[in-house]
Amino acid sequence: MPQPHSDIGRSRQREIYLAGVGGKRPRVPVAPAELERAAQAALAPEAFAYVAGGAGREGTMEANRAALDRWRIVPRRLRDCESRDLSVELFGRRLPAPLLLAPIGVAEMAHPDADLAVARAAAALGVPHIFSNQASVPMERCAAAMGAAPRWFQLYWSKSNDVVASFVRRAEACGCDAIVLTLDTTMLGWRPRDLGLGYLPFLQGKGIAQYTSDPVFMREVREGRLGATVPSRAAEARPPLTLPTIATALTQKANFPGGLLRNLASGEPRAAVARFVATYSRANLTWDDLKFLRQHTRLPIVLKGILHAEDARLAVAHGADGIVVSNHGGRQIDGEIASLDALPGVVEAVGGKIPVLFDSGVRGGADVFKALALGATAVCLGRPYVYGLAVAGEAGVREVVANVLAEFDLTLGLAGCRSVGEIRRDCVA
Ligand code: FNR
Repeated sequence: MPQPHSDIGRSRQREIYLAGVGGKRPRVPVAPAELERAAQAALAPEAFAYVAGGAGREGTMEANRAALDRWRIVPRRLRDCESRDLSVELFGRRLPAPLLLAPIGVAEMAHPDADLAVARAAAALGVPHIFSNQASVPMERCAAAMGAAPRWFQLYWSKSNDVVASFVRRAEACGCDAIVLTLDTTMLGWRPRDLGLGYLPFLQGKGIAQYTSDPVFMREVREGRLGATVPSRAAEARPPLTLPTIATALTQKANFPGGLLRNLASGEPRAAVARFVATYSRANLTWDDLKFLRQHTRLPIVLKGILHAEDARLAVAHGADGIVVSNHGGRQIDGEIASLDALPGVVEAVGGKIPVLFDSGVRGGADVFKALALGATAVCLGRPYVYGLAVAGEAGVREVVANVLAEFDLTLGLAGCRSVGEIRRDCVA
């Protein structure tokens, strides 16, 4: 785990260049575009489409990058940056750097070790892993692989408040430091790459491990309950028996706890998928519902997906403990405001009352620096670590995150800052 003042930028450079003297190149490409290409080569077309794709014409993804590129770092000179402290404090815990791993669902599409590989890599670096509500591995297994390293839990509010309460209870029992409630996915965005392939991983039973491992959700499945507002016929409709539908049924069984053989004759895997589809999203959620969450957890509640200054004020007024400025990596609305363009307005509206985190478009340490200069307390890394996972599993995640931390450390020092606290608004123009 990198310690404050640990010079991780130069030590990472040394490690790579020394290996190069011995004829070894990094297995995981260092350049972001090359990393994405390597992941594409390693992944099935459906998997790459799911991870890399965005909503509509993907203009929001472009805008995220354009906004980060528009801001330029203005370094200061002759300030003795030999020793640098990257650490920040968040919700009572000192973190080695202002970086977290964003919650990313269905990691099994990138690598069979999925969330477990991410959890181990995060723990090795001391970077918090935000467990996804749509994880491929139950949070308990990931937490058990992390020792005392920090982890958070991200929640999607489903139609069953009993399931919501159960997830939150489990997250507390797993030692999570915060609950991140994602607000931008009350429905799935319009994603042409996935639609073009006719592929949604959840229908294969992928990415629903938090549900199939949940006693309350599984009780609801066994009681044969479906979503109250979804006609049960639609959710239960049996597709015609063809080779692909048989393959899907087998995949659902293989992805269900116990595996294919144990579930061969069971109708539960299919019923679980049907109930998930019928209940996973709740588009009628309002600010008032936050009370329910507050009543069910003592953990800090962080609202992810805030982009409007007025929503930031409402978040504070409703007792949120933190905000993540995010447009979900451009996966939800095409033509949405770039996440970085929304950041200053949210920071101003919050007025320092609660921490403001940032994600969407971050590809390297210089991006982290820019977001911090514009007022973010910390930054979440998304797609790049999944690309690392696709290329080299746990080691791949570790390398990608280590590279981002190294570039951040070097950028900080080269810009004339000795600590995160010294990154101010006038460090960018
Ligand atoms: C996501 N994201 C996401 N967010 C969330 O709150 N819960 C989730 O389960 C997921 N799942 C997910 C899957 C995939 C494949 C991607 C790419 C993203 C959004 C994620 O947390 C983060 O906001 C974005 O990844 C940030 O955008 P960039 O930087 O990855 O482009």
